[in-house]
Amino acid sequence: MDSTGLRRSVVLKRRPRGEPTPDDFAIHEDPIPTAGPGEVVTRTIFLSIDPYMRGRLREEQTYAVAIQIGEVMTGETAGDIVVGARGWQTHSATSGDRLVKISKGAAPLSAYLGVLGMPGATAYAGVTEICKPKAGETFVVSAASGAVGSVAGQIAKRAGARVVGIAGGSEKCLWVQDSLGFDDCVDHRSLDLGRELRAACPNGIDCYFENVGGAVQEAVFGQLNAFARVAMCGMVSQYNEQTMPPGPNLGFVVGKRVLIQGFIVSDRPDRMTEWRAMAEPWIADGNLVYREDVIDGLENAPDALTGILSGRNFGKLLVRVSGDHP
Ligand SMILES: NC(=O)c1ccc[n+]([C@@H]2O[C@H](COP(=O)([O-])OP(=O)(O)OC[C@H]3O[C@@H](n4cnc5c(N)ncnc54)[C@H](OP(=O)(O)O)[C@@H]3O)[C@@H](O)[C@H]2O)c1
Repeated sequence: MDSTGLRRSVVLKRRPRGEPTPDDFAIHEDPIPTAGPGEVVTRTIFLSIDPYMRGRLREEQTYAVAIQIGEVMTGETAGDIVVGARGWQTHSATSGDRLVKISKGAAPLSAYLGVLGMPGATAYAGVTEICKPKAGETFVVSAASGAVGSVAGQIAKRAGARVVGIAGGSEKCLWVQDSLGFDDCVDHRSLDLGRELRAACPNGIDCYFENVGGAVQEAVFGQLNAFARVAMCGMVSQYNEQTMPPGPNLGFVVGKRVLIQGFIVSDRPDRMTEWRAMAEPWIADGNLVYREDVIDGLENAPDALTGILSGRNFGKLLVRVSGDHP
């Protein structure tokens, strides 16, 4: 029980125009809820900050429901022993069937929001269902040091592909090569991204795991091989745009017989369970590398969201809501 007896939550105050700022949100306090019939009360320990949250702030609906003004921000949270989408708040009451129990001790609690959670399962689904890399093929992933990209590249590496990451800055690129074991990494801020990518992918690109869109996408698409597979996971470079930039010319898709497919991880909840069971031992053995970027305090969640949309995070971004956990 919280010593104040109060629940704190972050609610949407107004819809951001462009980059979200902390002024777009407000902190509310109200009594900690009590459990109704069939419900449990959860206390949040970690809150996951994800790029998709920007889409929920728009008036128009994306593939998920928009947040209304005054409503608590959506978000995945991990408490004592469960994971669930309980939002940007310290406590919530919910029916137990909306929570997933996690095996205590198999991995650090925070991992269930990142490498063993929704981002890890996203990487698994995109690589194994769409990209399907074969030994010797070249697999490229953007936002390579991030929650999804870092796992996608490691799965492709296990399949025997040559894995090339794209990330922002030399520090991230060094980590992608030295710690994740990717064969190469290209800095998307470099003056000639196309040339650097060509040097890193001398045999062209067979698989592309798309996380960012924009200039990165343009550079990669120009180097796709015949029968390449592109998993359209996200386009974070556009999430703050008020109007969408003009699209690419996709004529090459015909001649090169390229497969481009979008996907949403929640379409296949079974893949999440499958991934968690498969990856837990890899974490325990140190065969799946991950990095977390933890920010303290629920009140800092809005600023954290601004940061993930501009590459300020380095690894899976989390907010520690309560330091007090087993
Ligand atoms: N389809 C699904 O079901 C699903 C599920 C989860 C996530 N996603 C998508 O997967 C992608 C990655 O998500 P994540 O949670 O793993 O986030 P993340 O990679 O941990 O963080 C986002 C990263 O995007 C990069 N970035 C931001 N703006 C950029 C720009 N203009 N150009 C190039 N890179 C930029 C930054 O890395 P750098 O510093 O390296 O640029 C930033 O750190 C997002 O597009 C997200 O929406 C999709």
